Amino acid sequence: METAREIKKQEQYIEKVQEINRGKKLKYNILTMGCQLNENDSEKLCGMLEKMGYIKTEDFKNADLNLFNTCCVRENAEDKLFGKLGELKRIKEEKGTIVAIGGCMMQEKHITDKIKESYPFVDIIFGTHTLHKFPEDLYKALVEKRKQEDILDIDGEIYEGLPIKRNSNIKASVTIMNGCNNFCTYCIVPYVRGRERSREPREIIKEVKELAKQGYKEITLLGQNVNSYLRVEKEKGKKFEEYQGVNSFATLLKAINKIEGIERIRFVSPHPKDFTDDVIDAIAESDKVCKLIHLPLQSGNTKVLKEMNRKYTKEQYLNLVEKMKTKIPNLTLSTDIIVGFPGETDEEFEDTLDVVKRVKFEQVYMFIYSRRVGTPGDKMENQIPEDIKHKRFNKLKELVESQIEENNQKYIGTVQKVLVEGTSKNNENMLTGRTDSNKVVIFEGDTSLINKIIDLEIVSEHIWYLKGKILNKECE
Ligand code: SAH
Ligand code: SF4
Ligand code: F3S
Repeated sequence: METAREIKKQEQYIEKVQEINRGKKLKYNILTMGCQLNENDSEKLCGMLEKMGYIKTEDFKNADLNLFNTCCVRENAEDKLFGKLGELKRIKEEKGTIVAIGGCMMQEKHITDKIKESYPFVDIIFGTHTLHKFPEDLYKALVEKRKQEDILDIDGEIYEGLPIKRNSNIKASVTIMNGCNNFCTYCIVPYVRGRERSREPREIIKEVKELAKQGYKEITLLGQNVNSYLRVEKEKGKKFEEYQGVNSFATLLKAINKIEGIERIRFVSPHPKDFTDDVIDAIAESDKVCKLIHLPLQSGNTKVLKEMNRKYTKEQYLNLVEKMKTKIPNLTLSTDIIVGFPGETDEEFEDTLDVVKRVKFEQVYMFIYSRRVGTPGDKMENQIPEDIKHKRFNKLKELVESQIEENNQKYIGTVQKVLVEGTSKNNENMLTGRTDSNKVVIFEGDTSLINKIIDLEIVSEHIWYLKGKILNKECE
C-alpha cells in the first residue's frame, strides 16, 4: 500500500532527525489556530516532533523550533500570524530558530507569496495535504539548509499510523473524515481542505478501542461534515471495507457506542441537510452519545440561506429541530451563526433572531461575516458595511447572553452527570468538569474523582459556568 510505504519513509526521517538532535534537549513551541480538526492535526505534529527529540515549551521566544498550524476561515487569523512572525524576525536572527508554518492558510497562494516576500526567514511551509511529510521537510531544512515548500493542490490521501501526542488524557478527538463538498458561498474550507474523503471504519474503531484501553472516557468524532461520513465513497463507488456493520455515520455511532470504557461520544460538525432519520435514531438509541448536538444554522432567513448555498430553509431547519426534540429525550442544541452576509437586510437578520428565540440554543458561536479570497461571497457586490455588521452582532450577542442566563437557571436544583476533568484553572481547591450538555461545572472534591463521571447537584449559576455539590461518590 502506497500510504503505508510513505509512513515507513517518514519514520526513517524521524530517526534521522532524532540522531541529529540527540543530547541537545531542543525545545519546540506550537501555536494552533482554528477548529478542532486543526487541534487534532497539531497533536500529530507534536507526536512527530517529540519522537524527533524536541520537548514542548510554552515560551515561544526560547524555542529552537517555532511551529504555526494556521486557519484561514476568518480574517483575524491572518493578522495574528503576521504579528507573531514580526516578533520572530529578531529571535530568528539571534538564535537561528527553525520557523515552520503549516495548515489551511498555507493552501492560499496569496498568503504563501506574502510570506516568501515579507518574511523570507521562514524555513518550512507546508499545506493540509502534506502534514505527514513534516519529518522529511524538517530533515531537509536542517541538513540541506534550504527553504522547504511542500504544498499540494490535489486532495491528499489519508495516512494512518502517524505518531500522536494528545492534549488531554481524559478526552480525545478522532478525525473520521477530511475535506468538504458543500461549498457554502462564504466559506474557504473546501478550497483549503479539498474534497470529502472518509477514513476506513476499521481504522476508526481501532483508534477508539486503543483510546479506551489507554483510559480515555470521552471521544469527539471530527469532520467538516460528519454526518455524510462514507456518503461520497458510496455515491462514487469508491472502495471501502464495511467493518462491524459500519457503512454510514449512524452505524458508526452505534458501533462506537458498544466500545467498553468509552463513556461519552460527541461529534462536530454535522450539516442540517444530512441529518437523516437513521442518524437521529442512532443518537436516541446510543446511551453514550451526548445529547448536546451542534447544528449549524448560519442564518435564519431562507433567502440568505439560499445565497449561502446551505440547502435548507428556515422552516426546514425548525422542523428538523422539532423532529429531533421529539425523538431524542433531553436534547440540547448549539449552533454557529454568521451576521452580515452580503445582501442581508435588517429584516432578514430579524429571522435569525427569531430562530434563536424559538430554538433556545444551549450555546451559540457567533461570527461577523469575513470576506475570503476565492469564495463566491467575496465577489458579491452587496457587501454589508462594518458598522452595520457590528450592530447586528451586538444585538444577537445580547439576545444569546440573556437566553443563556435564563437557561442556566433551569439547571439549579437538578442533578447532572459530570465528567471530572481536573482542578479548576482559577481555583486550585476546586474541581472542574462538564455536563452532557458541555456546561462547565465547578465543585469541591477530591482529585481522585478526576476522569470519573459523578452525580452533582447544581447549586448556583454564573454566565459561563455552574457551581455543583457532590451527591454520591461515583456512579458506575
Ligand atoms: N464545517 C463546519 C465548520 C466550518 S467553519 C460547519 O459547516 O459547520 C466554522 C464556522 O465558521 C462556520 O460554521 C461558520 O459559522 C463560520 N464561518 C465560516 N466561514 C466564515 C466567514 N467567511 N466569515 C465568518 N464566519 C465564517
Ligand atoms: Fe464550510 Fe459549509 Fe463546508 Fe462547513 S459545510 S466547511 S461551512 S463549506
Ligand atoms: Fe480553520 Fe482550516 Fe479548521 S480554515 S476552521 S483550521 S479546517
